[in-house]
Amino acid sequence: MSEKLVCVADYESMAKRVLPKAVFDYYCSGADQQETLADNTAAFSRWHLFPRVLRDVSRVDLSVSVLGQRISMPVCVGATAMQRMAHPDGETATARATRAAGTGMMLSSWATSTIEEVRSSAGDGLLWMQLYIYKDRDLTLSLVRRAEEAGYKAIFVTVDTPYLGKRRDDVRNRFKLPPHLKMTNFGSAELAFSSAEGYGEDSGLAVYVAQAIDPTLCWEHIAWLKKNTHLPVVVKGVLRAEDALEALIHGVDGILVSNHGARQLDGVPATLDVLSEVYLDGGVRRGTDVLKALALGATAVFLGRPVLWGLACQGVSDVLELMRDELHLAMSLAGCCSLAEVNRSLIRRPEFTSR
Ligand code: FNR
Repeated sequence: MSEKLVCVADYESMAKRVLPKAVFDYYCSGADQQETLADNTAAFSRWHLFPRVLRDVSRVDLSVSVLGQRISMPVCVGATAMQRMAHPDGETATARATRAAGTGMMLSSWATSTIEEVRSSAGDGLLWMQLYIYKDRDLTLSLVRRAEEAGYKAIFVTVDTPYLGKRRDDVRNRFKLPPHLKMTNFGSAELAFSSAEGYGEDSGLAVYVAQAIDPTLCWEHIAWLKKNTHLPVVVKGVLRAEDALEALIHGVDGILVSNHGARQLDGVPATLDVLSEVYLDGGVRRGTDVLKALALGATAVFLGRPVLWGLACQGVSDVLELMRDELHLAMSLAGCCSLAEVNRSLIRRPEFTSR
């Protein structure tokens, strides 16, 4: 009989057992001392839920609109790179599971499946494209065009990665893609992160980013991107109000409050602690985490690592349905029949309630 996995933490423990060490380390790592990594999850425990009772919760509706598309729950799949290291079908399996769950998937620019392969696996499912802006602007725009042509519904442009954060385990492991895999959206071995050499003694991905990704980016490049696509553009990686304001001035269609799963600048706050009326990712592991993020103003949340743990053992569908069940139960026990009833009054910090 297969092992019964009852929470995301169980999937993580099993993934640690089944994945090669360098792969698990790459998926798991945060930057530097990993202070923010710990805080991303700990932040959720700093809030208590204050449920209402006797509210007829026999029918609970989890559906929500994200960028104009109705999805079945406010839990979406975030962009995580190189998913074929977790499972031979990688992103195409994630796309099938996401569609079956009736939610949306953000595909990483650094996927090990092409934009088009993922579209054909997703059928008519909801897909968004995560974009890194390369030094080569034509190459960058070709990714956007391909996403448009394949019917992706938005571009999430990552703005927190002028260089790769220092993930110590990746440096120790001299992290590279296994030789049978590449970032298939790119033609040359250099851009597909599949060169046999040239990464020295460092994290291969850190070397790749320094070579290919543009550290000169500023807000005018977001305006440039907006001008060059008819798709909504969401900036992924904003942590400050000033930058949220800049984003609005530059015409973006949404903001994803993210610290890149604590993989870029260590010492930044947990995403839950800087949340406003937007989307959030970082540290979401339980249905109650989703409920807390929504109560603090998020429209929807994105899962990073939990999807990878699902891919590595028993399936992404199981993880998405687990999150749906947990959110459904949390909403019912909190006395909320729809997301419209989830608001700030549902949640308080213990230090403000114990006095
Ligand atoms: C990521 N993330 C990420 N973000 C992005 O914009 N492009 C990418 O290619 C990747 N790749 C990636 C790989 C891995 C292994 C991880 C863990 C993360 C960041 C990701 O989109 C998201 O911000 C975080 O993963 C969310 O935090 P949790 O749910 O992993 O805690």
